[in-house]
Amino acid sequence: MAEQANAFKNEAFAADIQAEIELLQWCDALILQFPIWWFGMPAILKGYMDRVFVPGVTYGRGKWYEIGPMAGKRALVSCTADCGPVGYSPRGRYGELGILLWPVHTSLRFIGFDVLEPVYTGLVSAGDEERKAGLAAYAARLKGFETDQPMPFHTEDDYADTYTLKPGIKGKTIAQWGE
Ligand SMILES: Cc1cc2nc3c(=O)[nH]c(=O)nc-3n(C[C@H](O)[C@H](O)[C@H](O)COP(=O)(O)O)c2cc1C
Repeated sequence: MAEQANAFKNEAFAADIQAEIELLQWCDALILQFPIWWFGMPAILKGYMDRVFVPGVTYGRGKWYEIGPMAGKRALVSCTADCGPVGYSPRGRYGELGILLWPVHTSLRFIGFDVLEPVYTGLVSAGDEERKAGLAAYAARLKGFETDQPMPFHTEDDYADTYTLKPGIKGKTIAQWGE
């Protein structure tokens, strides 16, 4: 973090990272499209977040979550895997998709994005019919990109201090459920 803050202060990011930072600042909307690999995002996407979501640019100086630098922009995770959606449901073999995607979703929210419910396209190797159906469902979701209700996240008002919810505030994300 110190090195990233230093690079921000001295405008010393590597050219490819600087280019990605500028793209992120420029975009109106962000769609992350990736295959599920080992029950999460591929390492290259994690590497992108490690290098591009840097302090000074995407968070810091009291700006995070609903007042983060990306506030007002929407983000969507669209992922593929090779089983039907039931495999990624609460009683499915692989478990609830939202749990696998929490690190991505909460990171996008951390820097200010409104995050939409994810798009999941499964059975990618099953054939043309499934592929067509998946693409049609994805197209339908994209029509609601600007109007769909984003996923619920807690706001600053819900927290008693920097890191804990106030007593009596019910957790509303997949990761904050304890009383
Ligand atoms: C390294 C690797 C790890 C994978 N891990 C998972 C996994 O954890 N769960 C799953 O359902 N599919 C997994 N898959 C299958 C991919 O999700 C699937 O092949 C991909 O979504 C197909 O999209 P593509 O045609 O864009 O690669 C994995 C594939 C690879 C190559």
